[in-house]
Amino acid sequence: MQIIVTRTFAGASDYVAEIIADLVLSKPTAKLGLATGSTPERVYDKLADMHFKGLDFSRVSTVNLDEYCGVTGDNPVSYRYYMNEKLFSHINVKPENIYVPSGINNPEEELELFSYKIYNGKIDLQLLGIGPNGHVGFNEPGDKLHRAAHITKLTQSTIDANARFFNDKSEVPTEAITMGMGDILSAASIVLLASGASKADAVKALLMDDYITTQVPATFIKMHAAATVVIDYELANMIGYKVKG
Ligand code: F6R
Repeated sequence: MQIIVTRTFAGASDYVAEIIADLVLSKPTAKLGLATGSTPERVYDKLADMHFKGLDFSRVSTVNLDEYCGVTGDNPVSYRYYMNEKLFSHINVKPENIYVPSGINNPEEELELFSYKIYNGKIDLQLLGIGPNGHVGFNEPGDKLHRAAHITKLTQSTIDANARFFNDKSEVPTEAITMGMGDILSAASIVLLASGASKADAVKALLMDDYITTQVPATFIKMHAAATVVIDYELANMIGYKVKG
């Protein structure tokens, strides 16, 4: 695992945006696995800015990690809406090259389509955030993890963490559709971005210990040959990670 520590979270986000831009420049048909949440917001701002300055996404395709169940894409809390707002409406990616799983379609059919979208051409780069409990996508801690795309119940930790996007905690959906752990690990490369005290325990388990555990799903990323974790200096300090050199 490559570990990058930047001075600020803005710097970490810019670093990740550069990785994505370099990929799109070297491979204009790149397939990107995308995440939502607070973490990648500045990455998407940067990519929008780079597009404004000429970066071409016309042959890029995208697959998103997850979506809430029971929420339509025109609902501002949906991940589809987030992606349209934060990225898709600012770059020239073609609508037909975008896939965000639907949380309202027939689950069996949607999961089949989701798997097809993941494996019909390898994902070149999977962007990840990390939950306070160590979830990636919505692969929640437990005795077992799923290999493939599935519908999952959200843990209380995740519901609490995501309540800030809703008027009331009671409005947070309790289920989501998500890529499985095997789907995430099937990407040619993984870039995980993290910042903030709430992520310290999970990032510590990822960077400071050698074990892999279903209780902290992000630890599985240690097994990926081309994974990069980008954090800021404050988080590195919190977990006791010493920058080498
Ligand atoms: C979002 C996703 C989640 C988030 C994680 C962190 O598509 O898959 O795993 O990356 O919950 O969320 P933020 O960035 O809001 O702290």
